Amino acid sequence: YIIRAASPVKEGGRITGVVVVETVIPQDIIVKMESIQKAFNEYIQIKVQQNPIRFVYFLMLTIAALLIIFLALWVSLRIAKGITVPIQSLAEATETVAHGNMDFRINLKRDDEIGLLINSFNRMLDDLQEGKQSLEKAYKESDRRRLSMESILESINTGVIFFDRSGRIITMNNAACSLLNVERSDMEGSSYRELLGGLNSDELGSMVKHLSEKGFGAVEKEIHMYINGRPMDLRVYMTIIKDAAKKFIGTLAVFDNLTEIIMAQRALAWQEVAKRIAHEIKNPLTPIRLSAERLLKKWNDNAPDFEDVMVRSTKTIVHEVNSLRSLVDEFSRFGKMPRINLEPTDIKSIIEEVVELYSNLKDVEILPSYDPDMPEIEIDKKQIKMALINLMDNAIQAKSWKIWLNVFYNPAMDLIRIEVIDDGTGIKEEDRDKLFFPYFSTRKEGTGLGLAIVNSIISRHRGYIRVQDNKPKGTQFIIELPVGQK
Ligand SMILES: Nc1ncnc2c1ncn2[C@@H]1O[C@H](COP(=O)(O)OP(=O)(O)OP(=O)(O)O)[C@@H](O)[C@H]1O
Ligand SMILES: [Mg+2]
Repeated sequence: YIIRAASPVKEGGRITGVVVVETVIPQDIIVKMESIQKAFNEYIQIKVQQNPIRFVYFLMLTIAALLIIFLALWVSLRIAKGITVPIQSLAEATETVAHGNMDFRINLKRDDEIGLLINSFNRMLDDLQEGKQSLEKAYKESDRRRLSMESILESINTGVIFFDRSGRIITMNNAACSLLNVERSDMEGSSYRELLGGLNSDELGSMVKHLSEKGFGAVEKEIHMYINGRPMDLRVYMTIIKDAAKKFIGTLAVFDNLTEIIMAQRALAWQEVAKRIAHEIKNPLTPIRLSAERLLKKWNDNAPDFEDVMVRSTKTIVHEVNSLRSLVDEFSRFGKMPRINLEPTDIKSIIEEVVELYSNLKDVEILPSYDPDMPEIEIDKKQIKMALINLMDNAIQAKSWKIWLNVFYNPAMDLIRIEVIDDGTGIKEEDRDKLFFPYFSTRKEGTGLGLAIVNSIISRHRGYIRVQDNKPKGTQFIIELPVGQK
């Protein structure tokens, strides 16, 4: 192919010539042109079929898309089912376990994460069940202990009371209620102050005070008190209770009734007295018998020294009889106490008589004091006087300079309190328990019967005597005599 182009040359509006240009078109361009031509023709042809073809493609695509969607749906459903079924069973299992059935286990075997989850869940249930069982066992054990503790507490005849930190009564066993003569229902939950107030015992009060001031440790004391008018001897033990962290949680009070034991001790003491008296009576009998026998022999033999022997023998006999007599007198003072003869008496008059007896003593000053209002009291005047004289004698023998004789009336307890206080040598701690036993004496010439007699007189009046140190020195003997209760 050749391409030729011609253009006129104008000069002043007139064509003066023509320029002709010619070029040969290369073969490869011609091939390209032909193929473009062909493609164009094809395009024109296809354009006519455009719509049907588009439809066909659209249809195919739609079908493919639907297929994919269904497939995806199916796959996801399968996957979902693989998760929901175990989760459902997990949920049901949780529900069952929540209702308390610990034996339930999920029965699904799988190797994937869900299987791991189910295994862990089952293992957790195992642990839980084991934990629950041991907890139940521990609870049963502690419950059994609590019950046996309670039944022990209720069946022992030692009184037990537990107060919490604020002093409220938490536990009070049967024995405590009957010993202190209170109703458990009245007392539980109330304060120890109410209990103390009802009991009206100074000694108990001071024990509680001592312990609460100290804040640790324990105190033990034998206490004599009147419960519902009855004299009682109690051994009280109080201790502060702390938990493992040493925090104060309360106070425990334990008390035993010693009244009968003390009575039994007294009976034993009496037996002891009887034995000793019998023993001491036997001693002078031997010299008496020997003297009498010797006298008889000398008489029979018509011995020349008969007169001499008679003088010596009768001397021995009279001497031994005298000592026997004083022994028997002493014994009858103590062993055969006359029945007490109660009459309404003004204690003041007795004290005055006693003071009068000692009025001409030079070295000792006697200082009596009385409550202005004192009721008359039913006592055996002679015996109470004898008791006081014994206490006065002891005080004088203890090298006292002053002896105080105080008498008070305690209207709350309805009792009269007599104090014999001296500033003498005092009593050694280790002797204190034995003072009232017959034959206990620290003096060479003492019989040791004085305080035993005093004690016996006072208990026959349903009273109580105790001893304590006097400050700064000396001894206090305190007698309490109930006024109304006889
Ligand atoms: N006020 C006192 N001060 C110091 N010690 C005392 C006092 N009262 C009693 N005692 C002690 O108690 C002991 C027993 O006293 P108790 O009156 O029973 O016997 P006693 O005085 O020794 O003998 P008795 O009274 O028969 O002469 C005494 O020996 C003495 O040691
Ligand atoms: Mg004496």
